[in-house]
Amino acid sequence: MTAVRNIVILTGAGISAESGLATFRGPDGLWEGHRVEDVCTPEAFARDPALVQAFYDARRAALAGVVPNPAHVALARLDREWPGKLLIVTQNVDDLHERAGATRLLHMHGELCSALCLACDARSRWAGDLGDGPACPACGVAGALRPDIVWFGEMPYGMERIEAALAQADLFVSIGTSGAVYPAAGFVQVAAACGARTLELNLERSAGSDLFDETCIGPAGVLVPGWVDEVLAA
Ligand code: APR
Repeated sequence: MTAVRNIVILTGAGISAESGLATFRGPDGLWEGHRVEDVCTPEAFARDPALVQAFYDARRAALAGVVPNPAHVALARLDREWPGKLLIVTQNVDDLHERAGATRLLHMHGELCSALCLACDARSRWAGDLGDGPACPACGVAGALRPDIVWFGEMPYGMERIEAALAQADLFVSIGTSGAVYPAAGFVQVAAACGARTLELNLERSAGSDLFDETCIGPAGVLVPGWVDEVLAA
């Protein structure tokens, strides 16, 4: 087996579940009570910006009360100690990877704690209730800020960087994602086609499990620290 030098990790809502954040498609799923079309599309925002802002304000409020779990902490340790290339691609919009200390990180679906200006495309730290139309710090236009979240129908962030990392990966690891949403759900096939070994760590088998060389079933807070110990000791 080739020595592992370059690793790409994909994380989903499951890695934050043990921190207390709801996943999307579980029994207590985030979409429960909200139709996706009503809150997570550009059309929904144009139709009812206050409802969409309220949905994200509630998710930010939930974020204030949680902390990174051992899975986030273990990935941050890997980030600090791994001598080769590493990219943690997260579908999550929470900031738990950062708060655990990860730096080689890419939010492909945007970030709850960031606002995007519709007038000048600048991103800024989310500051207070966007609903009352604060001005964009970059261009000064008031009422032009939207959640910096990639909605259904919009292009994910960082795809060129992700594709370049997958092309060089020796190892692709998927953690806590259902494999329900593309393009993330297809990353395992891209990595495998470029010769990477593929590993899935998840609470249950996912839609993509058959595509992985190996699937380990269990909570991320238990599986990820053990896996990081193994890969750093190899
Ligand atoms: N440890 C590991 N895996 C877990 C845990 C846990 N403690 N708890 C749940 N899981 C798994 C579930 O079994 C499921 O396979 O995490 C996965 C979560 O799946 P989803 O809720 O579909 O979340 P995700 O895969 O991140 O969704 C992808 O869909 O709605 C869009 O943009 C949204 O980024 C999101 C994307």
